[in-house]
Amino acid sequence: MTKPFLDVLRGERCDPPPIWLMRQAGRYLPEYSQLRAKAGGFLDLCYTPEFAVEVTLQPINRYGFDAAILFSDILVVPDGLGQDVSFVEGTGPVLKPIRSAAEADLLSMDRLLDTLAPVYEAVSRLTRRLDAETALVGFAGAPWTVACYMVEGRTSRDFHAVKSFCYGDPDGFGRLMDLLVEATVVHLSAQVEAGVDAVQIFESHAGVLPAPEFMTWVVEPIRRIVAALREKWPDLPIIGFPRGAGPMYVPFAEKTGVTAISLDTAVSLDWAMEALPAGMPIQGNIDPVFLLTGGDEMDQMVERIIDACRDRPHIFNLGHGVDKQTDPETVQRLVSKVREFSA
Ligand code: CP3
Repeated sequence: MTKPFLDVLRGERCDPPPIWLMRQAGRYLPEYSQLRAKAGGFLDLCYTPEFAVEVTLQPINRYGFDAAILFSDILVVPDGLGQDVSFVEGTGPVLKPIRSAAEADLLSMDRLLDTLAPVYEAVSRLTRRLDAETALVGFAGAPWTVACYMVEGRTSRDFHAVKSFCYGDPDGFGRLMDLLVEATVVHLSAQVEAGVDAVQIFESHAGVLPAPEFMTWVVEPIRRIVAALREKWPDLPIIGFPRGAGPMYVPFAEKTGVTAISLDTAVSLDWAMEALPAGMPIQGNIDPVFLLTGGDEMDQMVERIIDACRDRPHIFNLGHGVDKQTDPETVQRLVSKVREFSA
């Protein structure tokens, strides 16, 4: 039995396109909120394999998506490196900010694998719970995006602290980024060893750097991560998601070595078809806000996206994560609409 999601990542076209959604597990699902309340904190949910498995499977049980994404978070890596990380109701992630190379030097790889062991245990249990057509996707944040949270200490609007560190002390910042490259390779390798079929690298803050810095702090670290993974697993499918990269999607696609590219909401598909390397599979990119309005407008957008991607291997997804206000019925309508399409 083959998995359509993996067929597309190998360069085949499938009709209908396989579908999964970023943040497909989460607060828009009542069953998630129920389990979240039982688990206590968000990190407890991530580090209890029984809960992480259950939450990963909730959207699969409801909608039969073609891929399950491991339930975890990109900020388990700074937690594993020894930074104080918490998730505060109504605020989101809160980290004890690292503002200098001296503070970054206090982090260490020593306890990373021990701290994150429950995550890999969840992966290995999931491989036994998913059926033969459903792929399991592991993930990590890209070093730049994770560094944004580590240095800012929370979700930021202007990225002044992380840019000041990066522009003012590129050598010191480079040491933090080297550590994050190493930690990301270890974290993704452990997920592959535990049984994920593919990995996605989330570069959610790709869009805030000038072009030369984008090459240094987005493209180059991801290139190193991809190269290290490929040394061990030459055929591992790797999806890159440089959200907000605009025209820099092109050097990202050409130089990082990723298998496939996830397009954010703002990317013109006609432009992407021309500009991205021939044959490269793409994923995306309906605006999650169409799932708040739903209706015929959403259906028409689904048609436009599938039509625009007809000449490439395509995985249907959102341009960013599912919003917590989304009605679960609208997600069902989206899945049904996508699955109406056949060759
Ligand atoms: O279903 C899935 O996609 C898998 C799980 C997943 C989560 N976070 C669960 C989560 C994944 C892949 C992520 C990635 C992630 N986490 C990113 C990259 C993608 C993106 O959205 O840009 C980033 C930047 C983070 C950091 C993060 N984690 C933030 C900013 C927040 C707060 C925002 C929010 O929605 O509350 C989180 C918390 C988080 N991660 C939640 C979930 C389901 C909500 C936690 C809760 O239950 O309160």
